[in-house]
Amino acid sequence: MKTSVTVCRGCCCGTEKHPTTDHDGQVAQLEAAGLRVRIADCLDVCEHSNVVVVHGHGVRPVWLGGVLDAASTSQVAGWVSAGGPGRARMPETLRRHVISRPAKAK
Ligand code: FES
Repeated sequence: MKTSVTVCRGCCCGTEKHPTTDHDGQVAQLEAAGLRVRIADCLDVCEHSNVVVVHGHGVRPVWLGGVLDAASTSQVAGWVSAGGPGRARMPETLRRHVISRPAKAK
């Protein structure tokens, strides 16, 4: 089963608020890494845009913020390809992107 990631594309994530980010390229980069990418509307943590949620196998999803460039997107893809949450150790460079999920998130 492919690991999935949810990429926020709401009022802040994926918009011109981040003019130097290739938003379509980010999705393409994740898909090219073999991940199933779901697009979500605002996830209510706009202060951390762009937000990517990595879904694990039998563990809580990991919420990441500030995923704004090819390097951080590559770190997400690499970690998930290695097993992701619950299966592979998160790279230190990715840990600084971890954010708390909003209280109302499921
Ligand atoms: S637009 Fe992504 S958290 Fe609001």
